[in-house]
Amino acid sequence: MTTEQELGAAPMSIMDSLVRNDRGGPKWLWRSGSLVPWADARIHVNAVGHASVASVFEGIKAYVSHDGNRLLAFRLDEHLRRLYESARLVRIDIPYGVETLRDAVIEVLRANEYREDVYLRPWAFPAGIVQEQMVPAGVTCELVVDSWTFQSGLGTERGCRAAVSSWTRINEASMPPRVKAFSNYHNGRLAMIEARENGHDWPILLNERGKVSEGPGACIAIVRDGVVSTPSTTSGILESLTRETSITLLRELGHTVVEREVDRTELYLADEVFFMGTGWEILPVTWVDGLKVGEGEAGPVTRALDAAYHSVVRGRSPEHADWLTEIPF
Ligand SMILES: Cc1ncc(COP(=O)(O)O)c(C=O)c1O
Repeated sequence: MTTEQELGAAPMSIMDSLVRNDRGGPKWLWRSGSLVPWADARIHVNAVGHASVASVFEGIKAYVSHDGNRLLAFRLDEHLRRLYESARLVRIDIPYGVETLRDAVIEVLRANEYREDVYLRPWAFPAGIVQEQMVPAGVTCELVVDSWTFQSGLGTERGCRAAVSSWTRINEASMPPRVKAFSNYHNGRLAMIEARENGHDWPILLNERGKVSEGPGACIAIVRDGVVSTPSTTSGILESLTRETSITLLRELGHTVVEREVDRTELYLADEVFFMGTGWEILPVTWVDGLKVGEGEAGPVTRALDAAYHSVVRGRSPEHADWLTEIPF
């Protein structure tokens, strides 16, 4: 049985891996064409807000292989493709081809001599001091590939308490959630603050139609009577690669997976609920709005998915080698 302390501890370790504090950075990052010392990668203070309004990014993980002799970047090309799609939607022209970005990611992993699991963050933002809030289309853009190590939660006993947020998920008509833009995360952050203030770990956001959309940094699925259901890509979600990966793996495991609108009350009746995302990996939701989900611990479908995902990202599974980019030590 999972204890309350463990339930509370799990999301904090995710936060630890996502919030960079004074532990410092790696030696190198890639900036607009070349490696630069991480500590020297600066922009003028006046550029920060404007750059952030328009910037788009990706979150990619590279896992140490099961045999410990290489890093495996997970679904690198698909993440980079989504970066270009986000950039296209916000009218930022990335002045590099996908080959250059793939090489940049590999260069960053090699230059920093990582021997641990690494989170990679490519991001594109308007260059220089843009003199207006509404950063114009077509403005020169910079591209950075940053990185840091993280501790994976895969294969560990964990769970979290979620709560439906009073904040509505941003929507296609105003702030398209399909774009992975930093500015979209204002919505998720408000929801997260509310959840924490009310003693929960993570919020679940409903969309403008009152249907389940996603968490602030991950998609969500429920299992009820053996069927896995997850909000469709028109439910106000990011087109998550972990969600797509999970659907594939669950179907391979013999489960029925349906992409459809999900009602709030289905969260309360579900046998299992789990988040899925690059950052959160496969995170079981063990309480929703104070109601225990199933037995109050990760259920069998969630556990099986976690194991399959873990096996794939570490290259232990012979399947889906095409999802992995190898960077030998
Ligand atoms: C809002 C949001 N939804 C979903 C996801 C999951 O997307 P992916 O699986 O591609 O990482 C993320 C990941 O960062 C996210 O920020």
